[in-house]
Amino acid sequence: EDEAFLAAFQARIDAEEKIEPNDPMPEGYRKTLVRQIGQHAHSEIVGMLPEGNWITRAPSLRRKAALLAKVQDEGGHGLYLYSAAETLGVSREEMTEELLSGKAKYSSIFNYPTQTWADIGAIGWLVDGAAIMNQIPLCRCSYGPYARAMIRVCKEESFHQRQGYEIMMTLARGTPEQKEMAQDALNRWWWPSLMMFGPSDGDSQHSDQSMKWKIKRFTNDELRQKFVDATVPQGEFIGLTFPDPDLKWNDEKGSYDFGPIDWDEFWRVVKGHGPMNRERIEARRKAWDDGAWVREAALAHAEKRKARRDA
Ligand code: ACO
Repeated sequence: EDEAFLAAFQARIDAEEKIEPNDPMPEGYRKTLVRQIGQHAHSEIVGMLPEGNWITRAPSLRRKAALLAKVQDEGGHGLYLYSAAETLGVSREEMTEELLSGKAKYSSIFNYPTQTWADIGAIGWLVDGAAIMNQIPLCRCSYGPYARAMIRVCKEESFHQRQGYEIMMTLARGTPEQKEMAQDALNRWWWPSLMMFGPSDGDSQHSDQSMKWKIKRFTNDELRQKFVDATVPQGEFIGLTFPDPDLKWNDEKGSYDFGPIDWDEFWRVVKGHGPMNRERIEARRKAWDDGAWVREAALAHAEKRKARRDA
């Protein structure tokens, strides 16, 4: 890749042009997108597991219908994202193998267990809230197929966030036991939610280049701060407290100060040693293996149709 090509590519990015699948692009740009979109797709389908676990135990028909729809949406998000990654010349099979072998990452957040019904509220409110904060800017990502997929995804995520907050609000206004359950869920999900945004800017390996290519529009720390600022008043509004003694409004900077994140825990979970990593990958492997006959049958059917057409 010569300098002139890289400069011309950067000029297109700087002019806010969308890069499309058949356009020439630096190998590093392609690789970064395959990595990020692949990881994002895996997060969606692994993310179906902790919540899917509660579909049969949702406390009412209405809650069950909403949760079912949400988990289905996540499956759909995974499919849009795998398709977006496929436009960059990587196959679904390759991406899945990388997930199952542990080579490809997925979001740390999905390696925590869902212990009570309130966790479903906390996940919708906090995890989907964090996901929206991160994904709204991705609607303006320089790569066209990823940016377009994100528009639909964000609309659905905002419904997910609201259904979660509404569960939390209902519990927080319920019996003392229900309020206690909501508080306990917030206590357990708060810090892992802040970790979703990734390492601090100083330790974020890819941020500088991804910002330059306008794949990312904000740094990890910028988005984390926006999330804290948006979420703390929502929690206070329903009478819950945050498990951080250092959390405090800072008038001068016009945003909240918050305590240090446990990065040892973050890296442990990212490297496969979180509470649920093993179960999550086993569940995905089982789904992939159990679905082998469907893929084989679809392929055989497509071949037969082609043979009939060609005959
Ligand atoms: N969980 C697991 N791995 C993470 C996390 C996390 N929360 N945050 C960062 N990492 C990984 C990165 O993938 C990277 O690893 P790699 O080099 O092996 O690929 C490494 O930590 C260093 O991080 P960064 O250099 O900051 O990586 P990057 O620039 O890709 O930023 C981020 C990370 C913010 C997650 C980015 O990839 C992104 O915006 N992804 C799209 C959104 C997404 O994946 N959301 C998933 C959760 S939301 C949902 O599914 C509901």
